Order: sequence, then structure tokens, then C-alpha cells
Amino acid sequence: MMQNDLFSDISPEMEELAPGIFLFQRYVDETEIFNIVNYARAEAPIRHMITPGGKKINVSGVSMGDAGWYSDRRGYRYEKTDPLSGKPWPKIPDDIGEIVTIAAAKAGFNNFVPDSCFINCYEPGVRLTAHIDQDEVDFSKPIVSISLGVSAIFQVFGEKRGGKAMNIPLHSGDLLIFGGPARRHYHGVKKIETQSHPLTGDKRYNLTFRKAL
Ligand code: SIN
Ligand code: FE2
Repeated sequence: MMQNDLFSDISPEMEELAPGIFLFQRYVDETEIFNIVNYARAEAPIRHMITPGGKKINVSGVSMGDAGWYSDRRGYRYEKTDPLSGKPWPKIPDDIGEIVTIAAAKAGFNNFVPDSCFINCYEPGVRLTAHIDQDEVDFSKPIVSISLGVSAIFQVFGEKRGGKAMNIPLHSGDLLIFGGPARRHYHGVKKIETQSHPLTGDKRYNLTFRKAL
């Protein structure tokens, strides 16, 4: 009895916001994520890719892992090496890989071992238009996203692109899992407002861990 009273104010570690969508607020150490972003971008530059139709993608990014998501005139796909350098993508550091595997298991996704991590970089005014992540082989595997830097509103639309979105505020250190029925749902990020964060300045980074191959 006493115990319940004592702990009733402590927010739960994880919340299921909708079927398959789990939010772990302030779950990951920001400095650790910042160090990972800096390690990755020192190995392979963050760059703006273009869509198969030739349009510049406003969110810049780079990959880590055995496979890196890539887009150019030849289409959307996973590449085992960085087309810019011909070298393998930077490795996913073991410690963050373990954090992701453990969080996924807490949400009911056992044995999730990511082989790809896409690091998105958002500048003020940039948004990510609604899309489905569909270049991966196995849709039973979730996507695990970690946010760093200024805050954003993540939007989930459902099976169709338009309509009313579920708005999920994401802050630095938050870990979001996107799996189950939500795995094939349209989602995006609202335009980033001008804000400031002690580690990243006016930028937001988001790391999406996937099982691509
Ligand atoms: C994505 O949907 O690929 C990225 C999501 C985010 O930046 O939070
Ligand atoms: Fe996505």
C-alpha cells in the first residue's frame, strides 16, 4: 500500500500511445547520442540526397551499419557501401545497438538487432513529408527512433497519407518505437521551429534504427 503511494508519482518508463507505437521519454543519454552523431559524420559526411525524380531532400543525413538507406536518380534503396566514397558505412556502436535491442524487447519486439541506422539532420524550417518506410525486407521488425537536439512534432497519419494526424512531441533523448500495425503507417515530422539546444544549436538529429536486410 505504502509502496504504491510512494511510487504513484513516477511516470512509467514506456507508454504505448497507439497500437505498435511506444514512447520512452528522456530514455537515452544525450551526450552519448551526440558523440555517436559526431563519430558517424566524421567517417562519412552528412549530405543532402535527391529523390528519384531529382528533387533535393531537405532533411540531410548519413547512415551507419551494414546497410545504408540511399536515394538518387536510381531510386530508393539500401547500399552496403557509401556511394560517395565506396567505403563501408560507419559501424553502429555496440552500446547504442544494445540500448535499442533492450528497448525493443520491452515493447514486445524480441531479438531486434538493427543492421542499419539512418541519421537525419533537421535545420529550422525543414519538415519531413509523410511517407512509409518500405525499403526494408521484414516488416515484422520495428523501427526504433532516437531524438537529439531541438524538439519536433512527429505525426502519424495511418494507412492513408492525408487526414487527421496523431501528433507526438519528441524531445532530446526520447526513444520511439514504431512497429506492429503502425509499421506500415504514413508518418512525418512537422516543420522544425527555430529553437536552441545546448549540444546541437538550432538542429535536430534523429537516429532511426532498422533491420534493413
Ligand atoms: C523518419 O520517419 O524516418 C524520421 C522520423 C523523425 O525524424 O523523427
Ligand atoms: Fe520514416
